[in-house]
Amino acid sequence: MLRMHSLGDNYRVLVIGGSGALGQAFCAALRSDSACAQVTELGRNTTPRLDLEDPVSIAESADTLAQQGPFQLILLATGILHGPAVQPEKSLAAIEAEALRRVFQINTLGPALVLRHFLPLLSADGAMAVLSAKVGSIGDNRLGGWYAYRSSKAALNMLIKTAAIELRRQWPKARLLSLHPGTVVSPLSQPFRGAANARPAAQAAAELLAVVDESTAHDSGGFLSYNGDRLPW
Ligand SMILES: NC(=O)c1ccc[n+]([C@@H]2O[C@H](COP(=O)([O-])OP(=O)(O)OC[C@H]3O[C@@H](n4cnc5c(N)ncnc54)[C@H](OP(=O)(O)O)[C@@H]3O)[C@@H](O)[C@H]2O)c1
Repeated sequence: MLRMHSLGDNYRVLVIGGSGALGQAFCAALRSDSACAQVTELGRNTTPRLDLEDPVSIAESADTLAQQGPFQLILLATGILHGPAVQPEKSLAAIEAEALRRVFQINTLGPALVLRHFLPLLSADGAMAVLSAKVGSIGDNRLGGWYAYRSSKAALNMLIKTAAIELRRQWPKARLLSLHPGTVVSPLSQPFRGAANARPAAQAAAELLAVVDESTAHDSGGFLSYNGDRLPW
């Protein structure tokens, strides 16, 4: 049973990407918290609908949900690593423009518009957390490969850091975090994970929510791992 302490009583949550492995686990954990008044899910199969490849749907769904806000917690749990015509590139020779475009649209450009349209729905002392990935760390890149995914997450991190600076001027108590969930059992990781080290989504979600709960405004704009470690950009 979860208990979030930093969001007050009767806090409201918006989970964008609640259909994914981590998104579902976030929703289940938060619904088990007696202090949580409401969990709203948003994605390609909800009403309103949000598709990261459709900028109008991002703006319109934010407009529609504004009446349910402000939200004390907003989680962006979407992302793509592979899919039809998208495979992580092992070498430069595998880079394809259309696959790059799609990965950047879902991992970077869509989330940029989510920041634009949904940060105004955050409570002034609330927290917004975006799922990134440690492989998006430029400083930690030792293996190479995965060009589209790595660079889309590195650019996502810059968007989060930049938005956090702007957010701090307006709402100094709010938190905007980039989170690395670790390797988690999910459709996204399934073809790639080392079988031994993938954790259940429920465990990862609980760990990430603890990181959010323990974070302060001082951490806003940070790139944090599921165990609370600050990751290098
Ligand atoms: N799993 C891991 O090991 C791991 C490791 C590091 C980082 N992460 C990050 O964690 C996040 C969640 O990953 P996951 O493992 O939970 O993946 P997942 O189970 O594959 O879930 C992906 C989510 O993204 C949504 N999505 C994809 N394209 C979308 C679009 N165009 N518009 C709106 N939503 C879209 C999916 O919605 P639909 O149901 O509509 O497809 C689904 O809700 C991702 O950002 C990923 O990069 C995961």
